[in-house]
Amino acid sequence: MHFTLNDLIVDITQNGAESGAELVELFIAETYSPEKAEIRFTVRDNGKGMDKETLQRATDPFVTDGVKHPHRKVGLGLPFLIQTAEQSGGGWNIDSMPGKGTTVTAWFDLRNIDTPPFEDIPGLFRTVLMFEGPREMLLRRIRKGANGSPDLDYEIRKTDILGALGSLDDAESLILLKDYLQSLEDE
Ligand SMILES: Nc1ncnc2c1ncn2[C@@H]1O[C@H](COP(=O)(O)OP(=O)(O)OP(=O)(O)O)[C@@H](O)[C@H]1O
Ligand SMILES: [Mg+2]
Repeated sequence: MHFTLNDLIVDITQNGAESGAELVELFIAETYSPEKAEIRFTVRDNGKGMDKETLQRATDPFVTDGVKHPHRKVGLGLPFLIQTAEQSGGGWNIDSMPGKGTTVTAWFDLRNIDTPPFEDIPGLFRTVLMFEGPREMLLRRIRKGANGSPDLDYEIRKTDILGALGSLDDAESLILLKDYLQSLEDE
């Protein structure tokens, strides 16, 4: 079974987009130093949120049974994120409040052999920008090297992209979007 951290991040961001949120934020930070190589991501939405019981159910691995989406290559959802983080020396945290929203954070040790690969940020950002639902999405990406200062740091707003491209419905816009997202990564 092959999956990437991107699959996990996309799935958690999709939950945010499906939560009724106006705003979904995705923050991805990579840190490299002699002591650690870590990726940390946070998805924050201002959607419907979850009460204690709903959150309990949503994080219970026995609820994700592969019945709803038998075609998927991985069992997605929060239980899968939790399991993957815990099995690879990482961790996670979820804060949720009914009527207010949800914040999911997870971190992974990039030097742990059980951490799935992390790749293609432009493709990841393009996928989540196309989710229907939130009026605004704020995507932020930081990469820090050994000296502690970022060698990559950029932010993308869905409304800016839509303002520039008109829509994300046609092939031409998607090609422009792809090139733009790649250019941010290559700076
Ligand atoms: N950000 C969120 N805001 C509100 N509810 C959430 C959020 N994330 C998860 N949930 C709740 O947890 C449930 C389980 O989430 P999970 O991602 O495992 O499955 P799903 O989204 O229902 O289906 P799938 O992801 O397989 O399409 C959701 O149906 C929803 O009720
Ligand atoms: Mg989901």
